[in-house]
Amino acid sequence: MTDDPTTRDRRSRNPTPGTDLGGMFPRVFEKDYVTIVRGEGHTVWDADGNDYLDAISGNQNVAIGHGVPEVAQAAKTQIETLEYTSSMLFANEPAQAFTAKIADFTPDGFEHTWLVSSGSEANESAVKMARQYHVERGNERKYKVISRRRSYHGNTGIAMALSGFPARKSMMEPLYEDFPKAPSAAPYRCELCGGEAGRDCGVRCADAVERLIQDEGPENVAAFIAEPVTGAANAAASPHDGYFERIREICDEYDVLFIVDEVMTGFGRTGENFAIEHWDVTPDIITSAKGMSGGYSPIGATMPHRRVSDVFEGLENGFMHGHTYCFNPTSAAIGLAVLEYIEDHDLVANAREVGAYLGKRCEEFDEYEFVGDVRGKGLMRGLEFVADRVTKEPLAQTGSEFQSALFEAGLDNGILTYPSGSHVDGTRGDHTLITPPLTIDRGVVDELVERMHATVTQVDRELSLSTALD
Ligand SMILES: Cc1ncc(COP(=O)(O)O)c(C=O)c1O
Repeated sequence: MTDDPTTRDRRSRNPTPGTDLGGMFPRVFEKDYVTIVRGEGHTVWDADGNDYLDAISGNQNVAIGHGVPEVAQAAKTQIETLEYTSSMLFANEPAQAFTAKIADFTPDGFEHTWLVSSGSEANESAVKMARQYHVERGNERKYKVISRRRSYHGNTGIAMALSGFPARKSMMEPLYEDFPKAPSAAPYRCELCGGEAGRDCGVRCADAVERLIQDEGPENVAAFIAEPVTGAANAAASPHDGYFERIREICDEYDVLFIVDEVMTGFGRTGENFAIEHWDVTPDIITSAKGMSGGYSPIGATMPHRRVSDVFEGLENGFMHGHTYCFNPTSAAIGLAVLEYIEDHDLVANAREVGAYLGKRCEEFDEYEFVGDVRGKGLMRGLEFVADRVTKEPLAQTGSEFQSALFEAGLDNGILTYPSGSHVDGTRGDHTLITPPLTIDRGVVDELVERMHATVTQVDRELSLSTALD
């Protein structure tokens, strides 16, 4: 029985000021933080005993739910056996077992995995791999990487240079290489056709990438990178069919590597092992992180197709890259346990089936006039909020006013939300992701949707969103 979120017995929250968090350098000193102390399955509890439905899987990473004993046991066993050895100098067994299992889980032709500790590192590694791939083949001028206007590829140097996420980037801008940006290829706000053209829209957006390659000079372009379903930068938006197929053709024509950033979408989130498998397209490099460790350890991965890894075989000095924690045995043992759990519980199929049900139920949010778009695949859904459905004008309360209100209302109603935005013009625009653990069933979806209704209704009341539209 779904409990009614409007009447749920919620205790008060006693958040701690950002200035009083032990020795932490908090994200925002001037903010109060709720302390989360425990998690089990799709639920987490704060220090005051309030429970929250974790509709964002931690940070889109807690794919198999909180508190899985098998993973805890795998970590304990590995730490007691060998917590660390350097991958620069030695091989280790958990990394071999984990990468062998990943090779079975990835599409045909992907045989090797470079293991790192985060999504940002996975993308940095992919770009450096692409660069060295071209240099080793005698194309020394190729270094530029084309990405999309609304995208997020991480917070480190190259990854941030690739990202089209003004809210996270503008302040630091002078630090980054100004890599070329292609249209976002997000149908709801397609820069080229308004998204109405369907497959033609997809092809047109891809053709814009070709023009960019020609403008930059194909001899300078090493790679194109895209999220198959966009995460924080554009809440579960994905291009029309035809886009990735055409991108593949273009990349082949200009000897440009096609990197798919599956940091958020990989390992089952969208109902396929990797989201690019929704289309009949084989990329050159897949990156992933988040769900592949289930949040139990910081893990990321760069997975080149055989045609890329082949170039590195036989090189005396190998790949000119690496970190202390590459192929960390403890993380690998944890990753292996998580992937076994995903397979043993058929969680990719569950993400597909329960995700379809979530998608259906999310259509209900269309009843709010200030919800402009409902989108997504599998257990990765997004809502975009607008002041005017016809013009798609952002809310007057756009930015932190709306996004903080949504997050707080979610807490009031026992659900974690992930508001974000700035995608319309660099400062305005609001959306939220809905990305629950892959373990949930239809009953949890019903509860999630009820709590979301209560949350959105509360924000409407507090900010007078509907009244403003009358
Ligand atoms: C698509 C995508 N790429 C890269 C990253 C960066 O990953 P990390 O935060 O693990 O460095 C993220 C993180 O949100 C992401 O969603």
